[in-house]
Amino acid sequence: MQRQIIVCVAKQIWVALLALCVAQSLAGQRATPAHSAGANSATEKAEAARQNFVGDSACKECHGAIAETYLHTTHHLTSQLPTKDSISGSFASNGNVLKTGNPDLHFLMEARGGSFYQTAVFWQPPDQKMRSERMDFVTGSGEKGQTYLYWRGNQLFQLPVSYWTDLHAWVNSPGFTDGVADFNRRIVPRCLECHATYFASEPSDKAENFYRKSGFVLGISCERCHGLGREHVRQKRLAGTSDFAGKSAMVNPASLTRERQMEICAQCHGGIGESLEPAFSYVPGQPLEKYIKLQRPDEDARVDVHGNQVALTQRSRCYQSSQMTCTTCHDVHAAERPAAAYSEKCLQCHKDKDCGEFAKLGPKIRENCVDCHMPVQDSNLIISNVAEKQIKAQMRSHWIKVYPAPQAN
Ligand code: HEC
Ligand code: HEC
Ligand code: HEC
Ligand code: HEC
Ligand code: HEC
Ligand code: HEC
Ligand code: HEC
Repeated sequence: MQRQIIVCVAKQIWVALLALCVAQSLAGQRATPAHSAGANSATEKAEAARQNFVGDSACKECHGAIAETYLHTTHHLTSQLPTKDSISGSFASNGNVLKTGNPDLHFLMEARGGSFYQTAVFWQPPDQKMRSERMDFVTGSGEKGQTYLYWRGNQLFQLPVSYWTDLHAWVNSPGFTDGVADFNRRIVPRCLECHATYFASEPSDKAENFYRKSGFVLGISCERCHGLGREHVRQKRLAGTSDFAGKSAMVNPASLTRERQMEICAQCHGGIGESLEPAFSYVPGQPLEKYIKLQRPDEDARVDVHGNQVALTQRSRCYQSSQMTCTTCHDVHAAERPAAAYSEKCLQCHKDKDCGEFAKLGPKIRENCVDCHMPVQDSNLIISNVAEKQIKAQMRSHWIKVYPAPQAN
């Protein structure tokens, strides 16, 4: 399994990560704590801590401006209930069919009675057979793509058809074999840990994908980065009438050490790693290594741009020779800006004249440092097989350095 992770991490796309998660779940052999004897008590402890979760609507009362802009972030939108708006793909009759390489199988996406379905249609009339499952969750904001989950009893599975934004089209789900209708890909807790605020696991010896159907919070909430909020809210509400006004019970990442700050992002942007505690146990401000063991890629290993902006940033001389963190460039409370706009961040530490290209190109290099020094990179992996079409993903490299022109690959 270890090797598989590294191999997968070498591919540059979220799809590889997806496929890996799925592979892990299929193999079902990873001895995560949820399987071990101590599982119940660890899970119960995590559950008990949940009492202190208040949710984003509580923060809005006092942090109105942040709460408002946060609604437009991909973090907030990364898992949602299915609606016409949250699902990127089309249900109209001219766009709701996904053909496969197998003439005897196609998929149909249908909206009926307020719900949304993926139906596998086998064979031709009059022998036609169907299998239909409801889309119960949307994962992925749609910035790059989306994939859909469904409940079978208390178990969560991935559906065979995903959506790929660059193509504006339904595609065969990443890692799924073209021409086969596979409804058995399990969704493991680590997947949800990166894409949701909380899912309550139901520990089972059979598989890792049993969850409580009412025990989930979608989207990534404020408290995944700031810690559980009940005490803070209580103190601040009392502040007017008592002497609680002083210390905040909330984690402000800006006042943590740099390492602890980076770990808040690394819980989801540092690769899959190996879970040492049940999913959703990590507490911001605590050492991440108590909860998740992240792989430390070799110096030369090509690191997945998907899962691991942390390792790539840390490889950069900018990072090594300054106090740079992720939030030097990113304001996680608001939607992303176009890449070139981040050039002003570079210019906080560099002058345009520092760049070897300045002599040739002059001050116009100020318009876009990013595309030359953090190029978008193509992947050479086939990420989705749809009717013999190959789709290549593109990711922004976080290894800030000099790349050979034209853009390196
Ligand atoms: C009843 C009002 C109130 C509510 C509700 C509230 N806060 Fe605050 N929060 C404050 C006040 C007041 C401060 C101190 C403001 C300052 O120092 O600028 C603060 C400070 C903070 C800080 C900075 C802490 C520090 O030590 O620097 C963070 C982070 C924070 N809040 C997050 C949250 C989150 C997340 C929620 C929702 C779970 C939330 N707050 C709910 C009033 C509130
Ligand atoms: C993805 C992680 C993440 C999420 C989600 C997040 N924050 Fe923050 N927040 C941070 C970081 C990092 C900082 C410190 C920023 C810095 O370095 O200046 C911060 C700072 C703050 C502060 C104190 C400084 C300030 O800007 O006033 C408040 C208050 C705050 N966040 C509230 C919220 C609220 C409310 C939400 C949800 C609507 C939220 N945060 C969601 C990461 C996050
Ligand atoms: C709980 C998991 C989680 C945490 C914690 C987290 N992220 Fe993310 N982040 C994600 C996921 C998942 C996405 C992809 C969202 C999508 O498009 O569906 C994402 C997307 C992003 C993006 C791309 C936004 C865009 O609009 O394209 C940036 C930038 C980012 N995260 C920065 C950060 C930073 C900085 C931190 C730490 C302060 C952080 N994230 C913490 C899970 C997380
Ligand atoms: C270690 C954390 C992590 C795990 C595990 C993970 N993802 Fe992601 N996922 C991310 C991050 C971070 C992004 C943002 C893009 C990037 O950095 O590549 C992302 C991107 C995506 C996207 C594209 C979102 C968009 O529109 O930009 C989808 C869809 C997705 N993931 C689904 C899944 C599913 C389903 C699983 C589990 C089977 C999973 N991911 C497992 C962290 C994770
Ligand atoms: C927080 C400060 C900071 C920021 C922000 C920053 N850098 Fe740097 N960068 C540095 C430092 C410090 C060095 C190392 C300089 C040295 O050792 O002489 C460096 C080195 C570099 C190098 C040389 C890398 C190498 O491998 O030789 C390049 C290229 C570079 N930065 C480009 C950028 C670009 C482009 C951006 C914006 C996307 C940026 N930097 C943002 C501080 C920063
Ligand atoms: C020197 C500036 C800088 C730093 C530091 C930085 N990023 Fe970025 N990041 C960017 C730029 C520029 C983009 C491209 C934005 C766009 O395309 O709109 C980006 C894009 C992203 C994306 C979207 C990925 C994609 O391929 O579209 C994620 C996720 C992300 N950053 C996470 C992080 C995390 C996590 C950290 C800390 C480990 C981090 N970033 C540190 C500048 C930075
Ligand atoms: C057209 C592509 C391009 C653009 C735009 C560009 N750079 Fe460069 N940059 C390069 C190349 C190529 C080199 C290496 C030049 C050499 O070695 O002679 C370089 C070198 C550098 C170095 C390393 C200098 C050293 O000797 O270590 C820094 C720092 C740097 N650039 C920063 C920036 C910043 C900041 C911006 C935006 C204001 C920027 N660059 C815009 C291509 C570019």
